[in-house]
Amino acid sequence: MGPKDEKLYIVMVGLPSQGKSTVAFRLQDVFRRNAIPTRIFNNGVLRRKYSPHIDTWSSEFYNPANEEAVELRKQFALTNIRNARRYLNSQGQVAILDATNVGRERRQIIQEQLNDHPILFIQCVNNDKEIVELSIRYKVKSSEFDVLSEKDAVHEFKKRIEYYRMIYDDLGTEKNYLRMDSLHNKIIEEQLVDQMPLYSRIRDCLVTDVVKGLFLLRHTESFYNVEDRIGGDAGLTPKGQEQASALGRFFRKKKISYIFTSEKKRTIQTAQMIKSRQDDCTIVPLEEFNEIFSGICEGMSYDEIQKTMPDVYSDRKADKYNYVYPEGEGYITMKERIKIGIKKAFFLNRKTDNIMIIGHRAVNRMILSHFLYRREEDVPYIYIPQDKFYHIVATQDRKVFELKKYQ
Ligand code: F6P
Repeated sequence: MGPKDEKLYIVMVGLPSQGKSTVAFRLQDVFRRNAIPTRIFNNGVLRRKYSPHIDTWSSEFYNPANEEAVELRKQFALTNIRNARRYLNSQGQVAILDATNVGRERRQIIQEQLNDHPILFIQCVNNDKEIVELSIRYKVKSSEFDVLSEKDAVHEFKKRIEYYRMIYDDLGTEKNYLRMDSLHNKIIEEQLVDQMPLYSRIRDCLVTDVVKGLFLLRHTESFYNVEDRIGGDAGLTPKGQEQASALGRFFRKKKISYIFTSEKKRTIQTAQMIKSRQDDCTIVPLEEFNEIFSGICEGMSYDEIQKTMPDVYSDRKADKYNYVYPEGEGYITMKERIKIGIKKAFFLNRKTDNIMIIGHRAVNRMILSHFLYRREEDVPYIYIPQDKFYHIVATQDRKVFELKKYQ
């Protein structure tokens, strides 16, 4: 049996907001592009469709002691299980059950009912509090929570997670499973008893960063740029505002759900102009994308540094990548935080194809190097203009890297 005729159930496992649906979508995408008929069966979708009369926003609906609700949720799960089985017994090749499935009892039922083909359980774990918090805030935007204020909705959602936690059993007794860190796309543990020709493709997909459309922008002109000063937290000049507004016009027809920026005014102000032309767009400032911190040189111009601290100037010039500013950072020390920033942005962006990051000169060089594999010594010299942006696509079958003008 080869990958073309293997039938497989994939069962997602994990608390809400751990990235299960993102992983499910990614797998579906890869399979479909390889002509492997795949469908996702999502319990939440069924619940929202068939129980509009029930307050499914309420955490009490997920309380394991609420017998009526437990039974109703079980019925939705059984419906999806039946549909998945029917799908594989007709034209389908891979059926993905996307639900929390955190209790052993539920997984037992799945294994009993889906005994005609192998099952692979995929557990998603993400312990980053900030990301989970942002992800919850995004989730409560769904119409299910329309009756509540954002604050109350977040409260209900967190309580829902706690109820799921009460029945949480780790994977371990299942035949085939894989536990992954869904923020870092890393496999934590895996066990395979059945033969699964598709497994290597699945594994490869899970650990690969797929970029369908990354728009990497630098903030537009700031008051410090005009004076050639580094670091600081200056705002945009009138020309910078004009450039930002041109960016807004340029991107108005593209759907940008999130704009990831640094915590600095100049990136947030640039993002605000783009957001103003979008229907539903959230700006997420991440400290990981703050510009290189130049320590004792913050706020100085390159000229001033050369005159007053000639050693700093020449040492940096001699080995720019490895040089660390006194009491500050260097390209080399930024590497890890930039990597985390990229992971966070991709985790949160999930379902939409376009992702936008508005960063700074050094930050954008590091982000580009993440996708470009430049030699380290060349990274601090990558061209990062303010009147153009980078558009990057990196999937299994397409690689695009272009520098585009927006005006
Ligand atoms: O001048 C703008 C700026 O973003 C500074 O804040 C930062 O220190 C610098 O660029 C980074 O570029 P380089 O590493 O070439 O000095």
